[in-house]
Parts: sequence; C-alpha cells; structure tokens
Amino acid sequence: MAVRAAARRGLAALAVLAVLGFAACSDRRDAAPPPPAAALGLPPLPGVPPSAAQVELGRQLFFDRRLSFNGTMSCAMCHVPEEGFASNASRLAVGIEGRSLRRNAPTVLNAAWVRELFHDGREPSLEAQAWSPLLHPHEMANPSPGHVIERIRALSDYAGRFERAFDGRGPSMDTVGAALAAYERSLVAAGSRFDRWRYGGDAQALTPLEQRGFELFTGAARCAACHRVGGRDAPFTDHRYHATGVAFMPRPGRFVVPLAPGVQTVIEADALAPFADPRPADLGRFEVTLDPADRHAFRTPSLRNVARTAPYMHDGSLATLDDVVAFYDRGGGDLEGKSALLAPLGLTDDDKRALVAFLRALDSAALPALVAAARAP
Ligand code: HEC
Ligand code: HEC
Repeated sequence: MAVRAAARRGLAALAVLAVLGFAACSDRRDAAPPPPAAALGLPPLPGVPPSAAQVELGRQLFFDRRLSFNGTMSCAMCHVPEEGFASNASRLAVGIEGRSLRRNAPTVLNAAWVRELFHDGREPSLEAQAWSPLLHPHEMANPSPGHVIERIRALSDYAGRFERAFDGRGPSMDTVGAALAAYERSLVAAGSRFDRWRYGGDAQALTPLEQRGFELFTGAARCAACHRVGGRDAPFTDHRYHATGVAFMPRPGRFVVPLAPGVQTVIEADALAPFADPRPADLGRFEVTLDPADRHAFRTPSLRNVARTAPYMHDGSLATLDDVVAFYDRGGGDLEGKSALLAPLGLTDDDKRALVAFLRALDSAALPALVAAARAP
C-alpha cells in the first residue's frame, strides 16, 4: 500500500516536474512553434524553432521598404503574401527601378525545409541568403551590409528590438539575417486537404478526381520520382537538380503586336530574331558546380501551395498548371541531355484534369492565417 502510494506520489511529482520543465523551457526560449495542423504532412521543423520576438522583428524587416537603397523595395514586394509569397504578376522578378531579374521569384513558404536555396541551390542557409537580395544591384541595391545596418540603427522604431530578440545583440549582419530567417521559418504551410487525406485519416478530404490525380502523380505520370511523397510526410522534392528543358520549348512562330487600340500586326518570329536581345543562357546548377552534367539543371521545387504561385519554373515560362502538365506530357523540353526520368506520357484529357485537380488540393489550410498575420499592423 505504502509503496504504491509512494510510487503514485513519485509519479505525480515527476509529472509536475515534467510540466514545469516544459513550461520553463518554452518560457525561456519563448518559442513559437507552428500549430500542429499547419505542419501536417511535413517532417519536423529542422533546427531550433525561432522565438516569437525574432519572428516579429523579421516580419517587420521583411515588409520594410526602407531597407532598399532608395526606399522603394521590400522583400514582400517580390514575395507577396497574397500571391503565395511569390509574384503572380511577372514571369521574371522585377527589382529596384524596374530592373528585371533573370529568374522567377519562388515562394518563401516552407523555406525552413529547403536545404539549398535558390533555383540553382547556391545558398545553404536562410540567414546568409537574406543578404543576397539586400545587396543585389537589381533587387534592393544597397552598396554594403554596413549601409543597411547603419540605416536600421538610425530608425527609431527598431530601437531596442534587436537587443530584446537577440540577448542584447544589436543590428548586425548576423542578427538581420537571423531575424529574416526566423520570420521565414515561421511560414509553415502544409496541412492541405491532401495531407488530411493521406496523413490525417480523413478519407473524404480528397474528391475522387483528386485521388485519381494522386494515383497518376505517384504512378503512371511518374511525378513522384522527383517530387517525393513518403509514408509519413511529403516533401514533394528530392532536394536534387534536374534538367527538364524548360527553356527549350518550341517558341511561337509568330507574334501579334498591338500598334494602337484595335490595330495590330503579325510579325514572324524569324524576322524579329536579328533585333532581339540575345538572352544569356541560364545554366542553372552548372554555374555552381561547373559539372557538365549539371548544365540547365534546376532544383526540384516543393509543390505545396503551387496553385498560388504561378507562373511556373525558374524562368516563369509556364503560365498555368495546365501548361505544366502539358509540358510533362510532351516529355519535357527539347534539350539534349535532359533527365532520363522524363519521357512522353500519353495522358488523356481526363488524366490531365485529374493531375491539375490534385495539385490544387495542396493548398495549406494555414495560408489565410499566414497572409493575415503577414499584413497585421
Ligand atoms: C526583386 C525581387 C526580389 C526581392 C526584392 C527579394 N527577392 Fe527573394 N528571390 C527573388 C528571386 C528572383 C529569387 C530566385 C533567385 C535565384 O534562384 O537565383 C529569390 C529567392 C529567394 C529565396 C530562396 C527560396 C528558394 O526556395 O530557393 C528566399 C528565401 C528569398 N528569396 C528571400 C528573400 C528575402 C528575405 C528578401 C528581402 C531581404 C528577398 N527575398 C527579396 C526575388 C526577390
Ligand atoms: C526529373 C524530375 C522531375 C519529374 C519526373 C517531374 N518534375 Fe516537376 N519539376 C522538376 C524540376 C527540376 C522543376 C523545376 C524546373 C525549373 O525551375 O526550371 C520542376 C517544376 C515543377 C513545377 C513548377 C513549380 C514551381 O513552383 O515553379 C510543377 C507544378 C511540377 N514540376 C509538377 C510536376 C508534375 C505534375 C510532374 C509529373 C507529371 C512532374 N513535375 C515531374 C523535376 C521533375
């Protein structure tokens, strides 16, 4: 009896200790873990979850146009919350003073799970990545990290905020990068209808058409060879690089050019060629590794929330998900040496509809809340 009572007391004490310990832990770090439903379908968050103060500071920086050289550009102007944290309006990103970049702005949703950042994977850390757009002459165009840090020091609304979020450390290359990374790590956007269906035990969460799309995705259409779906979670990427030949598609032979309202002319593409700006070929992963096998290879992106992030591919050259599926149905672009995993698929119109319906079921249920929180005052 006495032994059992003592054991019970011991257990109770242990439980109290566990609760206290947990509270102390979460108190000390002030951690802001994502609500579990938003993460359903993703592996555990890599690294230490950022604190709420770091996330909030990073959010303010992400939206702050004063961080660009002439005070016009913020991160959020290319990674627009309402546009899937990407840019729906432009094929290629447009930066400071309208300067065009050579690639499409990818989403920053679920950036915590991207192992190598950028379409060519040249950057391993979110903390360091943030400095690339801040300094790029076509993006935010700051002349140096010191310039950005001095500017932040001079802004009264940041006074004391870095010190509070980073144990007394003020604005620096490290803390600015860490704050922006903290905000991006908080953009956890899984828990889609697909995740509820596959990992949440809700057999009704997908329609029969969407389920058929999933069957094709993981079966005859072979998408999951690169956009991986596992038994416990679905990253929708293999974290590798493939040449799909996106930039090597047959171009339209003729263009319709409007001259004045209601007046237009048709120009043959061949006639334009001598006057067109020769666009430098984007060699993708090759530019990082210099390995000939990587020519024109790009990172396999995750497909979560993909219905929100048109246009598609590193060059934004495919406008809709129907275009993407048609592209794969043709077996990819006309590029010699493209991935051996691509071949004409012979999909029927119903198959294509099912695949697109499946891709549309990958929208995170957390997205509306993330957008609202992004725009909070
Ligand atoms: C002018 C538009 C523009 C601005 C401003 C901009 N970005 Fe980007 N961002 C891009 C483009 C384009 C890429 C892809 C570049 C590449 O692959 O070479 C990108 C890539 C990224 C990536 C990598 C995502 C991935 O999956 O690989 C992250 C993270 C990111 N940006 C965060 C930021 C942050 C933080 C800021 C502000 C400090 C910012 N961006 C400002 C256009 C922009
Ligand atoms: C050989 C590997 C491979 C296979 C197979 C593959 N993909 Fe991809 N997918 C990629 C790569 C790599 C990219 C990025 C290409 C680029 O940026 O130029 C991509 C891009 C995409 C995108 C655009 C995402 C974005 O944000 O721009 C979609 C949508 C997509 N794939 C869907 C599919 C579907 C559907 C299938 C099956 C019919 C499929 N993929 C098969 C490797 C693959």
